[in-house]
Amino acid sequence: APLKVNKILCIGAGYVGGPTCAVIALKCPHITVTIVDLNQARIDAWNSADFALPIYEPGLEDVVRQCRGRNLFFSTDVDKGIREADLIFVSVNTPTKKSGVGAGFAADLNYVELATRQIAAVATSSKIVVEKSTVPCRTAESMRTILEANSKPNCRFDILSNPEFLAEGTAISDLFSPDRVLIGSLQTPEGKAACASLAGVYANWVPENRILTVGLWSSELSKLAANAMLAQRISSVNALSAICEATGANIDEVAHAVGYDSRVGPKFLKASVGFGGSCFQKDILNLVYLSESLHLPEVAAYWRQVVEMNEYQKRRFSKRVVDTLFNTITGKRIAVLGFAFKADTGDTRESAAITLIRDFQSERAFVNIYDPQVSETQIWSDLAEASPTVPAETIKKQVKICGSALEACRDAEAVVIATEWKEFKEIDWKEVYQHMKKPAFVFDGRLLVDAAALTAIGFKVTTIGRPS
Ligand code: NAD
Ligand code: UGA
Repeated sequence: APLKVNKILCIGAGYVGGPTCAVIALKCPHITVTIVDLNQARIDAWNSADFALPIYEPGLEDVVRQCRGRNLFFSTDVDKGIREADLIFVSVNTPTKKSGVGAGFAADLNYVELATRQIAAVATSSKIVVEKSTVPCRTAESMRTILEANSKPNCRFDILSNPEFLAEGTAISDLFSPDRVLIGSLQTPEGKAACASLAGVYANWVPENRILTVGLWSSELSKLAANAMLAQRISSVNALSAICEATGANIDEVAHAVGYDSRVGPKFLKASVGFGGSCFQKDILNLVYLSESLHLPEVAAYWRQVVEMNEYQKRRFSKRVVDTLFNTITGKRIAVLGFAFKADTGDTRESAAITLIRDFQSERAFVNIYDPQVSETQIWSDLAEASPTVPAETIKKQVKICGSALEACRDAEAVVIATEWKEFKEIDWKEVYQHMKKPAFVFDGRLLVDAAALTAIGFKVTTIGRPS
């Protein structure tokens, strides 16, 4: 019979573990949820008296306020958490490997393995171990081998795959009403019972027909497949945006017309300066590596092209800025509005803004940056990482971080919209215009602003996916 889950542990208090398990605590008041992390500063922030949480996500603070100290706890005591839990989510980071075999492509599974070994070493009773991190197909097999080889007598471990599909910026609403919850298990009686236990947790708020149960390997692969197909839509629309710019077609009109076909659907067809975020590129490269390891070079090349198109889109956009500004931006001041990889998040991982700013710096332009959520420290560290050969003082001389969009645009020759924050739509563009050098240029990398209205003010507007 399926075990009734009373105590849940989540290893990893990041963008996924934090919101996901906070929502479980909210929706399941009868379950005690503990979220642990090795990073003391992160745990302190989750526990902070003024709810200065380590990640910005609309609605998250409200959820944490309702549950923290009731049935939701944050701690660095991983061992204690493991001993007490019936069910353990492994929600640690799985970045792209930087060195060794598969460097630049394969997922670094070191954190997953360390967490798994710690579970095996510490557990004194049976557990359901749930892979929440995004991992290559068949990782659960390795986890099982490690757990079984190191477990104490009378401890059994059932392993499930339960990938997370939330998007940052909408994490809480995605978790409240997910399109689907996917649970993969071995198709043995024990595997199916473990699956039923986890499904029982989600059934507290997710309708039964949205809880999909499949085999372990299908579940693992579905996560990579979902991200690859989502990113592929963006690369497809971005590839079309280049044709639009060269022909006079308008990408918004094309995307609208294509998306009206119910088989294609209207969502996720917004042309942009390139997708960012911690996962799309990483997960596709992971799929590329998997395909290559399986001796499927044509499959690998197919998916690799999605990432290459994204790189091309970013390069193409910076080149268009330089071309439009009379082929040189040396010594010119460019305001970059937005630094996060998308709106409503403070996350900057793989943000297109970082690449653009690096390109502008290498043309020896001055750059003013404003983002409503990203901290100054984060911006400096991202810029340093993007230009490892440039001394920090040089970067600081070229870049200024500003407290408002208006301040960033003052005395600039051009404004580049890199993130689709709603507030950039609502700026007083007339006032911005007054304080800029003339001719004043706007480059809309997000199809955000009303180009006709800005042109009427006097701006020279360049929009992604529209001819100049
Ligand atoms: P993150 O880096 O924000 O969080 C991971 C946390 O795990 C870190 O705080 C780290 O300190 C902690 N950690 C690592 N090893 C540990 C250990 N042995 N014990 C305790 N803590 C440990 O990462 P994230 O964005 O939350 O992503 C986690 C996983 O979820 C990744 O595999 C990612 O691909 C996947 N995912 C992410 C998103 C997203 O929107 N960010 C969405 C779906 C899936
Ligand atoms: C994405 C997926 O949407 C989630 O389902 C998945 O769980 C997650 O990756 C993950 O595995 O990490 P996320 O990266 O948080 O979520 O955000 P998205 O909304 O998917 O946006 C990704 C990037 O694509 C952003 O830079 C966004 O601006 C860009 N984008 C998105 C476009 O350029 N055009 C679009 O039409 C949509």
